[in-house]
Amino acid sequence: MNQQKILITGAFGQLGRALTLALKNSHELILTDSNIPSRGRGFVLDISDRSFVKDSLSAFEPDLIINLGAITNVDACEENSDRAWIVNSTAVQNLLDFGKCPLIHLSTDYVFDGENGPYKEEDEPNPINIYGETKLESEERIWATGKKHLVIRTNVVYDYAPQTQASFLKWVVESLKNKQEIFVVNDQYNNPTWTNSLAEVIKRCIEQEVRGLAHWGDEDYLNRYEFALKIAKHFALDRKLIQEISTELLNQLAPRPLKGGLDASKLSKAIGLKAPSLNESLHIIKKRF
Ligand SMILES: NC(=O)c1ccc[n+]([C@@H]2O[C@H](COP(=O)([O-])OP(=O)(O)OC[C@H]3O[C@@H](n4cnc5c(N)ncnc54)[C@H](OP(=O)(O)O)[C@@H]3O)[C@@H](O)[C@H]2O)c1
Repeated sequence: MNQQKILITGAFGQLGRALTLALKNSHELILTDSNIPSRGRGFVLDISDRSFVKDSLSAFEPDLIINLGAITNVDACEENSDRAWIVNSTAVQNLLDFGKCPLIHLSTDYVFDGENGPYKEEDEPNPINIYGETKLESEERIWATGKKHLVIRTNVVYDYAPQTQASFLKWVVESLKNKQEIFVVNDQYNNPTWTNSLAEVIKRCIEQEVRGLAHWGDEDYLNRYEFALKIAKHFALDRKLIQEISTELLNQLAPRPLKGGLDASKLSKAIGLKAPSLNESLHIIKKRF
């Protein structure tokens, strides 16, 4: 497969870091983000700034854009919905209008209401919070172009990347290490996805030129409390600090889909990749810790 010039937005977030490692030997990468960390090598690109996007895309002329730039904090989206709509949806239009190449865009199982997961690509979206609404609108903008782009929906992406706030794993490990009691919901179900698993999926989708809508989540379907217990076990941390609580009692700002998650069987078959188990992934993450 030919080497491509790939521009990644949000490249210094948790998925961006894993994706950079997965692609850097086979492609020319242009790493961009709204802020570049002190020792990061990349270019500032705020995707919500239309003229900045126009100038950057005409200067770099990428063969492919991978859009990871987003406001991923679900409660922050509820709190500042104007900004969430701009970054998660309007900004995608900027990339579509000025990118003269295919786009791979990341979306979420939160486009569904959580009544009946795990969800297949054919299932009807019905978001119940602002994050889900903005991401669904971003997908619709992509289909409206009539061009062959790829949207990959995923869920509960995790790793132990020190820089990110977006990882449930990192929150659990750091809280327990600091002997802090945490309350974790026992009725929100998903199939958490390791960044490395998703990075390999994206790599294969590039190589095999997969287009359209695809779902990816790793193997285990479980609730957040069960996930937190597994993390405590693998990292040898005190599980007694983890208290289970219902979503109703926790009363988070944004409503949460309860039975979420994604059925990845279609994409798994198409790209010839089996989703890893949670135990396998946590074992590897702990070893490199
Ligand atoms: N995390 C999950 O559980 C999850 C689940 C489903 C789907 N996804 C999707 O997967 C993609 C990657 O998520 P992630 O887990 O890597 O989240 P992340 O660590 O929060 O990364 C998102 C990146 O986008 C950047 N960003 C925010 N506003 C931007 C803007 N205006 N212009 C350019 N970049 C901007 C963020 O920078 P700052 O940190 O400086 O704001 C951050 O570096 C997102 O599209 C997300 O919606 C994530």
